[in-house]
This record gives sequence, C-alpha cells and structure tokens, in this order.
Amino acid sequence: MWPYPRIIAHRGGGTLAPENTLAAMRCGLAHGFHAVEFDVMLSKDGVPVAMHDPHFGRTVAGSGNIFDFTSAQLASLDAGAWFSAEFAREPIPAYEQIQQFCAHNRIWMNVEIKPAPGYEEQTGTAVAKWTRQFFAAEIAAHVPGVNDDSLPLFSSFSFDALMAAKSETPEIPRGYLVSAIPQDWQSQLVQLGAVALHTNHKNLSAAQARAVKDAGYGLFCYTVNDPARARELLFWGVDAFCTDRIDLIGPDFR
Ligand code: G3P
Ligand code: MG
Repeated sequence: MWPYPRIIAHRGGGTLAPENTLAAMRCGLAHGFHAVEFDVMLSKDGVPVAMHDPHFGRTVAGSGNIFDFTSAQLASLDAGAWFSAEFAREPIPAYEQIQQFCAHNRIWMNVEIKPAPGYEEQTGTAVAKWTRQFFAAEIAAHVPGVNDDSLPLFSSFSFDALMAAKSETPEIPRGYLVSAIPQDWQSQLVQLGAVALHTNHKNLSAAQARAVKDAGYGLFCYTVNDPARARELLFWGVDAFCTDRIDLIGPDFR
C-alpha cells in the first residue's frame, strides 16, 4: 500500500545543496529525483516557509526565532551561505514557491509539517489550508487507488499538528513520524487516519517492519544514506525512504 515514489530526496538535495531551498530542489531534480521531502514552518504572519530549525544560527546567520519574523523578512535572509559561497544569497523559500516548482517539474512532495514549539495546531492548520488551495483541482479529481500520487503526503512528528491538518483538509493523506515506533503506534495511526508510519531506520527492526506492513500501512524510513542498508530495508518490506546521498542512491535504486 504505497502509491508514492520510493526514493525521495531529503530536504531537496540532501547533502549536495543547502537544505530546504529552491537551489536544493533544483539539485534534486538535476539528479533525476521527482520526489522530495522538505520541512515547513510558519512565519510571524502565518505564511508557511521551508525551514527545519525554529531558530536562526545553523542555516541562517543570526539569533532569534523564525516565528518572530514575517514571511517578507524571512524571504530577504540568506539560507545558502552557510553551505558554501556558491549558494550565497539563496533565500528562504515560501512553501508556495516550492509547490509551484514541484508542480511545474512534476515532483511529488512529502511535506513535513515542522511546527515551532507551541505552534503545533496553528502550523498544521495553515499548511493544510495552503495545500488545499494549491491542490484544489487534484483533490477534486482524486480517485482513491487510482491517482493517489497526484496528492502530496503530509508527515509530522507532532501528533497535534497532524490532527489539525486532518481536521482542516482531511483529503490530503498523512503519515505519522516517529523516531522509534511506540507501543501504541496503531491506535495513533487510527486516530490520525494516517496512511503510513514514518520512522528512523536506525531504530527499526525487521519484526516491526513486518508488523506495520501486516497492518496494512505504508512504511517510510528516514534518512538512509548507505546503499547496503537501503537494500536491507527494502528487503524487510519498507516501502520508501528519503536520502541525503542523492549522488549514491538514485531515484531508481533497487
Ligand atoms: O521526514 C523525514 C525526516 O526529514 C525527519 O527528520 O529532522 O530531518 O526533518 P528531520
Ligand atoms: Mg524533515
């Protein structure tokens, strides 16, 4: 039960480009990827932008919280210089810009809803709303089991953000992200109406993989960078994974 691409470029271009930027998306595409994972967070004015950390310091110079800046302010900041001079002045993209890039280039999206602490429901609701507006035609034309990959897949470590997304736009499918699979994973997936479980491959066993598959859910792993491990996970029944090593593990990897 996995109607989506199997090998997904993590944060756009993995380790080859500054994460969560349009340059990263172009890099993934140049490596043949038509499937991408990226992180989405809210600005002060409620606009979803591509960002992993809730504060400045790692990918954007400075200090302070992302949520204290408007989308216009964030768009003027440099999210590429930390990576290399070649990417200097690469801006923080709005989620909408990534949606447009992906639609134009036929790239499937795993949208990871990444709320800043305290903004879980607000972020889930806003991302769901923006996605519903952008994908209105695809939602209307969606026939379950026929063209499932015409819609993106939400995922989040935040149960509350996913519940908010479900209540705002139930038509967009959800995957629950966990670093290690908890005892009550199945009841959480039921509450979320989720189609998949997303987990750290480092904490996954073959028996757990089998249990998730036997229960009828999709199983996605992050972040798989070693081809031998990738093969093992696929052998276990893992449906899909994201990778930082888009140079080593291509979109047609088996
Ligand atoms: O969505 C999979 C993976 O991206 C989750 O972890 O921290 O890289 O966003 P992180
Ligand atoms: Mg992520």
